[in-house]
Amino acid sequence: MNHPIFAANWKMNHGPSEARAFMKTFLTQYPRHYDRTIIFFPPAACIETVDREVDGRSDILVGAQNIHWEDQGAFTGEISGQIARDAGATVVLVGHSERRHVFGETDEETARKCAAAERAGLRPMLCVGEKLEEREAGKTEEVVLRQLRAGFSRLAQMDAFNPLVAYEPVWAIGTGRTATADDASATHGVIREELKAIVGDRARAIPVLYGGSVNAGNAPALLSAPDVDGVLVGGASLDAGSWISIVRTRLTAEIAAEELASGE
Ligand code: 13P
Repeated sequence: MNHPIFAANWKMNHGPSEARAFMKTFLTQYPRHYDRTIIFFPPAACIETVDREVDGRSDILVGAQNIHWEDQGAFTGEISGQIARDAGATVVLVGHSERRHVFGETDEETARKCAAAERAGLRPMLCVGEKLEEREAGKTEEVVLRQLRAGFSRLAQMDAFNPLVAYEPVWAIGTGRTATADDASATHGVIREELKAIVGDRARAIPVLYGGSVNAGNAPALLSAPDVDGVLVGGASLDAGSWISIVRTRLTAEIAAEELASGE
């Protein structure tokens, strides 16, 4: 199991003043934890604000929710990897289901965005996941593998840029329906095998997060499932209190160490 990652995707919520207030509350109540990493994906206009509040804490990273595949130019309304990086991002979501299904982003575009992230020195977190009808048609594996292979197909040096993957079944996003820990784990296993085929043994070091209606109640089971290296949380990350209870999830290793210490 990799060092677990708790990622908050704020989507189109929280402007700079709300983001600042959120971060002040969060940082006061969440001291540095060495056994986990937190990533915030705020709206582009707040990357700098969140990064400034984080003030160099090495257990907390800031990411962009999206970038354009070109490095600069006449693309009104877009931001490049370089701009996101300059604002303080070190990670970027690529191919989130809302980008794919609301904005029509294609596999080819996700590949170009991953390559743009690489050029800008950002770690891409490639999001993959099947729609309900695809799941019901038994196509989960096929869809996830297609998105995974396509998304990373243009990376020049996958090893050097240490990408991440998020498995987010579309039917579980914002619906209150979560994949069971067993279901998530099964698909994560498929993703891990494919990563092995792409990068060999280094696949073990690529974190694969689960996303889709994660909350403080279901996070412990998901995080203790094999091959689940973290969670990517939307709705339940918007309130500082709710997010703090998720990031404080007790990990299996922590519980085992306590039991060992108490002689159980
Ligand atoms: P919810 O946690 O609101 O289901 O959103 C998941 C998601 O899309 C995170 O990227």
